[in-house]
Amino acid sequence: MNTIDLWLDTDPGFDDWMAWALLEADPAFRLHGVSVVAGNAQLPRTLANALAIKRLHGFTTPVWAGCERPLAQPAVTAQDVLGAAGMATTGPRLAEWAGGQADGNGVRALIDAVRAAPGRITLLAVGPLTNVATAFALAPELPSLLKSIVIMGGSTTGGNATAAAEFNIHADPEAAARVFDSGIEVAMFGLNVCRQVPVSGVHVDRLRRVGSAKAEVFAGYLDGYVDIARQRGRAAQSLYDPTPVVWLAAPQLFDLQPARVDVELAGRFTRGMTVCDLRAPALARANARVAMQADGDAVLEWAMQRLEAALA
Ligand code: BDR
Ligand code: CA
Repeated sequence: MNTIDLWLDTDPGFDDWMAWALLEADPAFRLHGVSVVAGNAQLPRTLANALAIKRLHGFTTPVWAGCERPLAQPAVTAQDVLGAAGMATTGPRLAEWAGGQADGNGVRALIDAVRAAPGRITLLAVGPLTNVATAFALAPELPSLLKSIVIMGGSTTGGNATAAAEFNIHADPEAAARVFDSGIEVAMFGLNVCRQVPVSGVHVDRLRRVGSAKAEVFAGYLDGYVDIARQRGRAAQSLYDPTPVVWLAAPQLFDLQPARVDVELAGRFTRGMTVCDLRAPALARANARVAMQADGDAVLEWAMQRLEAALA
């Protein structure tokens, strides 16, 4: 089996947690490091969440602290939707790791890891792109040293943070623009495809049936995540950050199309929008491959099987 060497950039958040758990669970992946960024909550909170997750699972992957604020705008978080902790639960709370510490500068660590393994590392970014854009600014050769970059962010249709903008792009549009303009082809998993992967109470029950203390904690947070949808009158919530993880291991479950993606930086109503020109390559110069279709049931089955094994 070919191993996929990865770096995860993240702002946990429950769906970030689930993405990370899948990366640790499947032997196809070799995770070199995790850099944390402000996003779902401010950095001290996303970092504390990352360390608590690491401890619960006993992960050994180093966790690094990244950027505290976006490149050019005031910080925004998703705590209005997710609660003060950046993730909600209907079960037992994740224990804080009092002695837990991050390993230093996450942007530097990312640069060093990519330089140490030229052409091998896939960068998976599932939060605002501040750390990634900062790394590209400090080390302009970095895009050419990566194997690929995969993001959860953006949308070919509407937004969630605003009518036009998806949260990760909305939280740092200048950073996102720099990443799409960096010269490396971005694989983009936006709201449009994640909405085809609906997670619900059925999946919560399935993980509760695993029966371990770890599974109980995880399932409670999955239930809290599904609750976001229930509060809006829907039974299922779109699965965001884990979706590109499944693609990396099981690309046959997805359809991606070449596109030109530009990030709107000026629009009064559209700042943070990903303008996706799907006329590429004929009528636009592609800088991305955009995920358009997913086999949602198969994607969730792939994820559930690995989580059941990892949480047992
Ligand atoms: C994205 O925003 C965050 O709230 C989630 O973790 C995900 O990365 C979805 O818009
Ligand atoms: Ca995220």
